[in-house]
Amino acid sequence: MSQDWTPASWRSKPVKQMPEYVDQAALHRTERALAGMPPLVFSGEARALQKSLASVANGEAFLLQGGDCAESFLEFSATKIRDTFRVILQMAVVMTYGGALPVVKVGRIAGQFAKPRSSDTETIDGVTLPAYRGDSINAFEFTSEARNPDPERLLKSYHQAASTLNLLRAFAKGGYADLHRVNGWNLDFVSDSPLKDRYEDLAGRIDDALRFMTACGVTSATLPAISQVDFYTSHEALHLSYEQAMTRTDSLTGDWYDTSAHMLWVGARTHQEDHAQIEFIRGIKNPLGLKVSPAMQPDELVRLIDVLNPENTPGRLTLIARMGHEQVETKLSPLVRRIKEEGRSVVWACDPMHGNTYKSQTGYKTRNFEHILSEVRGFFKVHQTEGTHPGGVHFEMTGENVTECVGGAHEIGDEDLSSRYHTACDPRLNANQALELAFLVADELKEARQFKTLKTRPVAAAE
Ligand code: PEP
Ligand code: CO
Repeated sequence: MSQDWTPASWRSKPVKQMPEYVDQAALHRTERALAGMPPLVFSGEARALQKSLASVANGEAFLLQGGDCAESFLEFSATKIRDTFRVILQMAVVMTYGGALPVVKVGRIAGQFAKPRSSDTETIDGVTLPAYRGDSINAFEFTSEARNPDPERLLKSYHQAASTLNLLRAFAKGGYADLHRVNGWNLDFVSDSPLKDRYEDLAGRIDDALRFMTACGVTSATLPAISQVDFYTSHEALHLSYEQAMTRTDSLTGDWYDTSAHMLWVGARTHQEDHAQIEFIRGIKNPLGLKVSPAMQPDELVRLIDVLNPENTPGRLTLIARMGHEQVETKLSPLVRRIKEEGRSVVWACDPMHGNTYKSQTGYKTRNFEHILSEVRGFFKVHQTEGTHPGGVHFEMTGENVTECVGGAHEIGDEDLSSRYHTACDPRLNANQALELAFLVADELKEARQFKTLKTRPVAAAE
């Protein structure tokens, strides 16, 4: 692979999963317009995330990454953003309390629009049209006009990402995320859920701890970490025209950053080492993610790490394993062992969603909550056996009360899927299922501490 990287060097590589635009002049106009837009994130923020991820790589923190499979133009509202943010905060609190270690919060939000598809076309009743590729590319309706890729949609995605991020920044720093509000974050449907008692018990304990701290003189005013959170954004680096247009040099360091999100990942369908997506992300300084599927061979993974993290910088690279519950132990173990032997610093995260998708009897694309749980457990078990750090989890979830994944405490069945199946792409955990999973992860984190694959800061630590 050539050492010379530019934001456009991906253009000379083979590329998969990119839409074909009929009107190239319109695409170029859009690219120029995007290149003139303000950055969505700052390089200093991406560096701060990388520093936090370095703590994760060292077993001193845990990563929670989650959000929609695909954001949509239609389902765009302040309520939806708030509900997603709120359930991520709730999960983080459960995990921080259980694991007694900091949780790094990263949303699949404010830019998660472009989707890889297993087929370029879709056929319904004998009519074949281009596949839906996410709202930044085409529309979901099954008409030839809707499915035609339209470059204007890239600009619309940029603007939606900008206003989403604006609200997220306000929620994160403006008081909404204050730990004193843990009780107040209760979603209506969590309050009538089987998890209610467990969540309220935890909220009560946090309240007690905060009252004790206040009595000792530690308040939001003296310790901003009580009232504010760092919340980061991420999405799949798939649509490279968009990502290139958002890439700028940082005036402080002279390095290139993709300012469309804090963290970018490459998916399981586009991670070939000599292809365009890997070429693009290797040159940006943002923290990176790489999806790792069951087909990944240890040698191939090491070569990809050579390309993506040649200096072995902790926090630079998160490997997001998506093996499926049946294969997680057999497929993940050899990879984890090899990376450890090679002395590579990575964050290992578990995506228990993408290896567990199937079609239900009723015809819906779904995932079974038990399979998701089982993959998470398998992930922790592998790290316990190999003596490595279980670094984080990666979920497709929403703050809304949807019925897209079967199972969970509310026992959603196949027959319930049709009642609130809203996703335009993959099935997501609803707020209850996400919270239930957070309690399971908290239990696993407690155990990992006992096995010393995660380190808790000593209570008396002085800095
Ligand atoms: C996704 O994260 O939505 C996705 C498509 O994942 P993967 O690349 O792992 O299939
Ligand atoms: Co998905």
